[in-house]
Amino acid sequence: MGAQELDLTALRRVYGNAGSRWFYTRVARNARHWGWTEPGQSKWRLWRAQRQLEDVLGRKLALPAGARVLDAGCGAGVVARAMAARFGLLVTGVDVLDFHVAEARRLSADAALADRTAFSCGDFHELPFPEGTFDGAYSMETLVHSYRPARALAEFHRVLRPGGRLVLLGPMSTGPLEELPSSARALLEPYLDAMAMTGARLYHAGNLAQLLAGAGFEVEEALDATPHYLPTTEAVHAYFRLPWELLRRVGDPARWLNLRSTVEMYAVREHIAWYVHTAVKPPR
Ligand SMILES: C[S@@+](CC[C@H](N)C(=O)[O-])C[C@H]1O[C@@H](n2cnc3c(N)ncnc32)[C@H](O)[C@@H]1O
Repeated sequence: MGAQELDLTALRRVYGNAGSRWFYTRVARNARHWGWTEPGQSKWRLWRAQRQLEDVLGRKLALPAGARVLDAGCGAGVVARAMAARFGLLVTGVDVLDFHVAEARRLSADAALADRTAFSCGDFHELPFPEGTFDGAYSMETLVHSYRPARALAEFHRVLRPGGRLVLLGPMSTGPLEELPSSARALLEPYLDAMAMTGARLYHAGNLAQLLAGAGFEVEEALDATPHYLPTTEAVHAYFRLPWELLRRVGDPARWLNLRSTVEMYAVREHIAWYVHTAVKPPR
């Protein structure tokens, strides 16, 4: 089990090192999430796949324009701006890393979306909002960092109004880590630790819906969307395998953790599931 407290030093190491920042800003154009590919589409168009994943989120939220929505772990605010620009939502992003919040504010101002997106620094396990503040909430690949998933889900439940909607998107192991083959665990576990993915040790595809129910949600859908995510997994592996081989020889591999993960986690892809959970806080 992971530590039941925030490890800000580890998160700063993951997202703040120069290699990660270069990768996320230059290659991923500020998005820190995977992509969604429809059957028959080319897997090579990674940016399109990222936009499509954001659209999946918007459709699952299914909220009217003007609805107030929480983005838990907003990064540089790419998803928040997509929800504001493409779905008319009013988004409040929270991220525990001050440099992500600063980037999110700057990019929203540049995109003339500062009136529909707001960002603040905070931990999504202790949200600085009163009960019932939001019509919707989402976590785009952030719960995987949770040091207490049940606590995070309880916070999402508290800040939603009755009838409010929650969408969780992200990767998880197909079952409890202890039940994976030892060869897969030997690859996966050091990576989870290096990437501060404590949540991935605490929940998995078999129990996240139960955790949601335990926090008071009605689970509308637990969608195993792995086939839509796998094309991105294959494409990033193909794109970055050679760059990673070169960089690890000439530079400090620790600086390129994110690049490395996209390449090395390919070997355990059959043990990783990508889910979209949609849940509702029951109306009173
Ligand atoms: C994989 S990134 C996703 C960022 C963004 N959702 C996106 O899709 O571009 C995970 C984000 O969660 C943030 N994060 C991790 N733990 C957090 C916590 N306890 N509270 C708030 N943010 C957190 C990280 O700083 C990082 O920005």
